[in-house]
Amino acid sequence: MISLGIETSCDDTAVGIVDGVDIIAQVKSSQDRVHAEWGGIVPELASRAHLENIIPIIDVAMKDAGLTKDGIDIISCTYGPGLVGSLLVGIETAKALSYIWNKPLVGVNHLRGHVASAMLANPEMELPSLGLLISGGHTEIIMFNPDFTLKLVSTTRDDAVGESLDKFGRVLGLSHPAGPELDRMSLIGDSSKVELPTVKLKDDSLDFSFSGLKTAGIRAIQRYPELPKSDLSASFMKAIGNQLFDRLMTATVRYKPESIFSVGGVSASRYIRSRLKSFCETMNLPLHVPPTELCTDNGAMIAYCGLLYYRFGIKSGLGLQPVSRLPLDSV
Ligand code: KG4
Ligand code: ZN
Repeated sequence: MISLGIETSCDDTAVGIVDGVDIIAQVKSSQDRVHAEWGGIVPELASRAHLENIIPIIDVAMKDAGLTKDGIDIISCTYGPGLVGSLLVGIETAKALSYIWNKPLVGVNHLRGHVASAMLANPEMELPSLGLLISGGHTEIIMFNPDFTLKLVSTTRDDAVGESLDKFGRVLGLSHPAGPELDRMSLIGDSSKVELPTVKLKDDSLDFSFSGLKTAGIRAIQRYPELPKSDLSASFMKAIGNQLFDRLMTATVRYKPESIFSVGGVSASRYIRSRLKSFCETMNLPLHVPPTELCTDNGAMIAYCGLLYYRFGIKSGLGLQPVSRLPLDSV
């Protein structure tokens, strides 16, 4: 069964086409340059760029897949969470295609799409699997159960991990999004030059908190202007990693999963990937981290997740609307 997936929840216009777990097209137009000069995402500019890009990108994806409309079985699109104006572009396009091509429409929860990317990368992944969803808007520990239900184990009480990386990087003078460049520099820097705190919450909660760490990191940039950016990046990435793996360790002992996964844009980090590898070796558990292009926002994860929804009998009507705040446990 072939699913065309449309992802426009934030600042990437992405379309993927999957045939079961085979990705037959994956096209993305990044808006990084549109937003770079503003130091963050400007919602109005994002929806305008989606509007300009969506139809050409669908065309390219269909050509790459070598398909006409007759080859598509379902149309999937992200309907939340995300920026309403951005989501609307993807949803209205998906509705139009569903109506004109006479194909079922499936609205997908973006967060579930990210989790599905781990299974798309390895359909044999062992369940229950415990993992991280770490991106620009999300920081969650999630249990992926054998019946495909998802349990939210913990989340952030303030900033998302990617958001902290991007804000720290902005003060360091890097362009938005700063995560990839910070990651690259952290690999050559010396993390022992600045000591940053591993934030622990007072109760025994597994929740995260990055806002204090972000402030401490920004203070360090101002206090040690002579330090190379690579050393500051390495210290900050290490402190971020310490918090992520402190919580993941406790959750793993508590929930006893059969495997570990990590999804979302920050999972593209080579530093985080190497810590995930050591963590899983220590815990003696298999690790599932999708390739970089499936970690960051993409259309294939939405196409595949739509396929899973459809197999479970979940479809949407043409009344599908964007939902800016959509929890993980909402279909
Ligand atoms: O999943 P994603 O593409 O979009 C959201 O749903 O947020 O994640 C974007 C986030 C940004 O904060 C970006 O800086 C971060 O992922 N990111 C990275 C890397 N690639 C993207 N962070 C660290 N290392 C990377 N290689
Ligand atoms: Zn995302």
